[in-house]
Amino acid sequence: MRVHVADHPLIAHKLTYLRDKRTDTPTFRRLADELVTLLAYEATREVRVTPFNIETPVAPTQGIHLSSPKPLVVPILRAGLGMLDGMMKMLPTAEVGFLGLERNEETLEARTYANRLPEDLDKRQCYVLDPMLATGGTLSAAIRFLVDLGADDITAVVLLAAPEGIERVQREVADIGAPITLVTGAIDERLNDKGYIVPGLGDAGDRLYG
Ligand code: PRP
Repeated sequence: MRVHVADHPLIAHKLTYLRDKRTDTPTFRRLADELVTLLAYEATREVRVTPFNIETPVAPTQGIHLSSPKPLVVPILRAGLGMLDGMMKMLPTAEVGFLGLERNEETLEARTYANRLPEDLDKRQCYVLDPMLATGGTLSAAIRFLVDLGADDITAVVLLAAPEGIERVQREVADIGAPITLVTGAIDERLNDKGYIVPGLGDAGDRLYG
């Protein structure tokens, strides 16, 4: 798995306010939305495009549009929904599939409870959205789920990641031949004994949706 940390002052600035426990829910939602839009710029660097001809008011030239079938954006319910609009601003013609995964707060293992995905995953680039990569159980399970359905080109976009979680995902997807990329706004120090990212931002799902 290729890991890309989107090291940019605007991202660090928005993450600072996202982390701050005084930030209220409406502001948290807005910042998450803005952050994803910035991360989408990095995450879509390899998006498939097709050339086509246009004419400017001055001369003919060649441009590009997104190849078909369009990319698939997969927010991991529920916190990933807080990243969907921001991603769709950058990829307005993408399709959206849904995957519900829940982390058991005692075992820290992820369980799939919902999915609504197209059948032609083998033909699409998939962009998985989840604000937090903590132990890595959820993202590993999400990637495995998509690969088992045929996906062979996956980019995960997270706001924050823990080193332990990245290592786990690296380990658990090592046998997958397909290209897998992780784009994160930052890599934090560590996990605490409850599986929370330190310093992190708390529970993203709760801060987005209560
Ligand atoms: C949180 C978060 C990630 C997951 C990360 O979701 O949104 O999906 O935990 O933890 P992990 O890397 O240790 O698996 P949660 O299970 O709390 O569900 P929610 O999005 O519905 O709040």
